[in-house]
Amino acid sequence: MKCNSGCFEKELGSNFRGNIRRKELLSRHTSFKIGGPAFLFAEPRDTSDLKLLLKLAKRYNINILVIGMGSNILAADKGVANLVIKLNARCFKQLRRTGKIIEAGSGSLLSQIINFAQKNGLSGLEFLSGIPGTAGGALVMNAGITESATGRRTQNKSISQIVEKITVMDYNGRIKDINNKQAGFGYRQTGLGRYIILSVSLNLEKAAAEEIKRKIRKYVGCRKTGIDYSFPSAGCIFKNPVGYSAGRLIDLCGLKGKKVNSACISLRHGNFILNTGGAKAKDVISLMGLIKKTVKNKFNLTLQPEIKIWN
Ligand code: EPU
Repeated sequence: MKCNSGCFEKELGSNFRGNIRRKELLSRHTSFKIGGPAFLFAEPRDTSDLKLLLKLAKRYNINILVIGMGSNILAADKGVANLVIKLNARCFKQLRRTGKIIEAGSGSLLSQIINFAQKNGLSGLEFLSGIPGTAGGALVMNAGITESATGRRTQNKSISQIVEKITVMDYNGRIKDINNKQAGFGYRQTGLGRYIILSVSLNLEKAAAEEIKRKIRKYVGCRKTGIDYSFPSAGCIFKNPVGYSAGRLIDLCGLKGKKVNSACISLRHGNFILNTGGAKAKDVISLMGLIKKTVKNKFNLTLQPEIKIWN
């Protein structure tokens, strides 16, 4: 069934209590500050709003995309023909503690969860300090860090290691719990894309407040030295091939500083592409192509994007 945005809003009617907007620019919602308009952009107020959105999207054959902090997304310049959902309402940002478990709403920021854990004397999340993202986004991407002192990788730490349970809504509007195994966690990937994440329960350990603070400072310090915050970006563009740092490989190819219009490979970290002002998605894609080709030629390694490309 065909439906324009006006018809969709009309159907939502007075039962929908959240916000819905047409042609919302995705550049306003991505850390890259890149992206054209979304066909529809909705912020449901609660799970019944969300369910209603899913029901209508299904009826009118409109595909859904979920956005958290938008820190791992490259959205097309022409925009997307989707319903983009942001779980921004208070109901999706709640934090609750039961013993050593923290249950965090999908829309809560990692920084808020880390803060809450610290106040409750719970440790185990500190390695996520400084990563821009929501709980939902961090889960879908299985966000984490790689710890090593050389270009060769040693240890990956990711949010999957502390996940006890995830509460999700499937695209038929049914709410259910899934366990760690069912989430299909891998390096920077999961099988969670087929659900909308509502909340996550994280399994933490008791620790002294000072010890937690010390760890947070350590991880924030590491990120500050390694990462390029000088211009908008989407963090690391490519996943690390097993045993390597993509950033170091790109560096060794001499690609740092390469530009396509206003998109530029960071001089600080080879795996960052910066939007130095008005960069387009097509500029970033073209730089990504150059990187892939050069790394393939020099090292015979195929880089896979870490960012999600919406087009
Ligand atoms: N290196 C270079 N040149 C570069 C970049 C890195 O020589 O241009 C060297 C570094 O000096 C270091 C090694 O390569 O010896 C590894 O670098 P880094 O510690 O920055 O780690 P990474 O593997 O490049 C990963 C994550 C980052 C995370 C860091 C730190 C991926 C794709 N990236 O980067 O995550 O911040 O570890 O834990 O897994 C992200 O996912 O968006 C992200 C930024």
